[in-house]
Amino acid sequence: MTGNSIVDPFAHLHDEDYAAPYSRNRARAADMVAMAGRQRIVLDGPWRFTLDLFDEGLRQKWFADDLTDIAEWQKPRDYDFDPQITVPVPSCWTCLQPEWRHFEGAAWYTRLFEWESHPECERLILRVGAANYEARIFLNGIFLASHLGGSTPFFVELTDSLLAGENRLQIQVDNRRRPDRVPMHHFDWFNDGGLYREVELVPLPRVFIRDFGAYLVPDGTLSHIAVDLTLSDQIDGEAEFSIPDLVPTTRIPIVSGKGKLVLEARPNLWSPLSPKLYDVQIRFGQDQLRDRVGFREVRRDGEKLFLNGEPLWLRGVCVHEDDIFIGRASTETDVRRRFQHARELGCNVMRLAHYPHHERVALIADEEGMMLWEEIPVYWAIDFANPATYADAENQLLEMIGRDRNRASVILWGVGNENADTVERYTFMRGLVEAARACDPTRLIAAACLINRVAFCIEDRLADHLDVVGLNEYFGWYEPDFNGLERLIANSNPDRPVVISEVGADALAGHRGSARELFTEDCQADIFRQQIEIISVVPWIQGFFPWLLYDFRSPRRQTRFQRGMNRKGLIADDKATKKLAFDVISRFYARRS
Ligand code: GCU
Repeated sequence: MTGNSIVDPFAHLHDEDYAAPYSRNRARAADMVAMAGRQRIVLDGPWRFTLDLFDEGLRQKWFADDLTDIAEWQKPRDYDFDPQITVPVPSCWTCLQPEWRHFEGAAWYTRLFEWESHPECERLILRVGAANYEARIFLNGIFLASHLGGSTPFFVELTDSLLAGENRLQIQVDNRRRPDRVPMHHFDWFNDGGLYREVELVPLPRVFIRDFGAYLVPDGTLSHIAVDLTLSDQIDGEAEFSIPDLVPTTRIPIVSGKGKLVLEARPNLWSPLSPKLYDVQIRFGQDQLRDRVGFREVRRDGEKLFLNGEPLWLRGVCVHEDDIFIGRASTETDVRRRFQHARELGCNVMRLAHYPHHERVALIADEEGMMLWEEIPVYWAIDFANPATYADAENQLLEMIGRDRNRASVILWGVGNENADTVERYTFMRGLVEAARACDPTRLIAAACLINRVAFCIEDRLADHLDVVGLNEYFGWYEPDFNGLERLIANSNPDRPVVISEVGADALAGHRGSARELFTEDCQADIFRQQIEIISVVPWIQGFFPWLLYDFRSPRRQTRFQRGMNRKGLIADDKATKKLAFDVISRFYARRS
């Protein structure tokens, strides 16, 4: 490895197309690797780190520099991967230093690891749990791949660039908000940056199981189980799977790398009251996986929802993946506290706004019996006319589905939130609905739609393609007059399930006053009381999702009561102090249980 290999040391000063060579080789959903029960080499811990405000790393090809000690340099460079400056992975750099809080740009992470080849590991794949927003992977000075999307895992094969002994892994992460990204540059949450979920090495045999699914066929009989799998290579062969206590070891023929089997079985069904999980083991050649899977059926009939054939009313709450101390880098403790509070509220479902949360959320939801609405951040204005933006959105959708397809708790895929109803938006989001349906017949598709504010009715051409229409409505807060909500209800006669997918008001915990006084707990509680009085008697409303469980960081919110926080939480940002509205909701849900 030579030092800086640029012939003209000043050429990079004049090249504004410097990023193009590193914005290709996109890691996509098709590159994902099924991870259930796999051995992982976790690379969490201190990584060498620097912010890179002017993108010098790409301009000057820092990744091409070797790690020669600065004392031995023959000519100067602008970065030495200083081992003294490290950050913990996973983390958000925005939470690590006060001067990094609002940094939006590129940053470089470097980590050394030892590698020795061994017979049962012919391939080595890197898994990044999430990097917000764009990531670029370099191994031993070689650019391997890039990824777009701030909340889904991606996989990059390292095999052919590995060295025996010491290897240098570098990841550039760029959290800039851009008009062609998903979300675009305007959203109501904090723009954290970093490698904020786990980074792992996955040793694999030459042929491995890239994807597998085990699910109850949604045919209304509750007695057919499907198992499908996709291999890394398009070869023929035979896989086998077993589900102890349900299905004996069964062989699946594999043709051109794919296999699927449907068989009779009557599992104890998964539900919030009985979250039964089965041990599913699947094997092909040297590769084997093991997952804990719940079998359940969620479907709609007319404007009603059903779980395992029983009527279902969604007692929900929305939640961001946000914390005033660790940002988007949630921990198991944080997630379990979330479920504890949702249970205290009387919820049977949580809407994970507005992007895929950590994979542990759905794993814990499976155990706890909490249903989930997961969604991608097609949020507010998006560059709906841009094919590259559509490809990014669809890939994030497929990565979310690919990651959580075996999670019984996930009953809804959300394809968007509050997007203006234009032809471009309609085409874009109809495509997303079709993509979700094509790869997952076992879940309902939703979106948080907008309301026609002239006729005061539900009017969104996307609704005809959805299974569940979400209504984000803030009557009593942004629109103080509840008359609008009553007109909306009177003017709407939907033919499919509708849920109130967001509703709420800001309140600073501890700030008390009259119900008319904005930003008081009393005002927030009173708005929920009036909301509940109106919506609880509407037969076609099948669910209610207060916005939201906890106050969260949002630079858009700067009144004296907010100071950079959206205060619509039912609980303050300390994730402990409940506001008056918490009890209003919990009493309502107790009546609906
Ligand atoms: C919108 C949006 C949320 C936002 C909320 C609010 O409905 O979907 O992301 O935080 O309203 O205004 O607080």
